[in-house]
Amino acid sequence: MTDDATTSGITGKVVAITGASSGIGEATARLLADRGARLVIGARRTDRLDGIAADLRRRGAEVVTVATDVTRRADLDGLVARAVEEFGRLDVLVSNAGISKIGPLGDGDVDGWSAMIDVNVRGVLYGISAASPVFRRQGSGHFVTTVSTAGLKIVPDMGVYAATKNAVRTVMEALRQESTDGVVRTTSVSPGFVRTELDGSIDDPDLRSQIRSSMDDFGLPPEAVARVIAFAIEQPDDVEIGDVTIRPTVQG
Ligand SMILES: NC(=O)c1ccc[n+]([C@@H]2O[C@H](COP(=O)([O-])OP(=O)(O)OC[C@H]3O[C@@H](n4cnc5c(N)ncnc54)[C@H](OP(=O)(O)O)[C@@H]3O)[C@@H](O)[C@H]2O)c1
Repeated sequence: MTDDATTSGITGKVVAITGASSGIGEATARLLADRGARLVIGARRTDRLDGIAADLRRRGAEVVTVATDVTRRADLDGLVARAVEEFGRLDVLVSNAGISKIGPLGDGDVDGWSAMIDVNVRGVLYGISAASPVFRRQGSGHFVTTVSTAGLKIVPDMGVYAATKNAVRTVMEALRQESTDGVVRTTSVSPGFVRTELDGSIDDPDLRSQIRSSMDDFGLPPEAVARVIAFAIEQPDDVEIGDVTIRPTVQG
């Protein structure tokens, strides 16, 4: 644990994170654990989750893992329920799981579009549905989502991916407006290129290697995005960090 854990607004908070088995989700879990959060980490690759959890427990953190496929509503209900069972509450849901099946619209990759809608949009909605009653009952709660600069600067090949991210941006703004009683906070973090495994979900080999080289050449480390998420979480309850973009300085 780091010294500032005692003074930050993160110590003791119960945070559930989807897509915590790699990249931004894993980096967020590691940073929040070091800062004293109690974690419920979810993803499909439970071997990865178990390795991360074992590592964090050795460092003194309280962590549970939950096999979570965000395309299944019951899995999000289970993730939230596990937080409440294990720790008595849920303070933050970081809806971070995402896939990127990019390609030109003309390719008509309907299966890829559907997969992105299921993970990137439905997955976030299921999280809102699962956690909202808990947040309302507690009188506080915080939704954090990982969206993307792809939804801000629209470029070829990323149309549907960007659309899924902007759907979530829209939902988060509505949620914010519906939650001005001070109970629920909402934060949307839009990263540019980050060095993660996200290219693994791209089916087109040329696009995949193009994105991989951009990530390797100038992508941010996922820890940079984790710091933004931690910043949003540690604010006092009456301060809501709404939308944050974080890009490599050299990204066009
Ligand atoms: N990397 C970038 O440049 C970048 C830029 C902007 C936004 N983002 C967004 O950042 C988020 C995190 O991605 P990342 O870059 O860290 O990539 P990543 O390393 O590939 O991580 C993606 C995570 O999502 C999980 N996931 C995928 N499908 C899932 C499903 N059906 N159910 C549950 N979990 C699922 C993966 O876990 P399992 O496979 O184990 O389930 C993995 O933990 C995504 O929403 C992505 O769109 C990334």
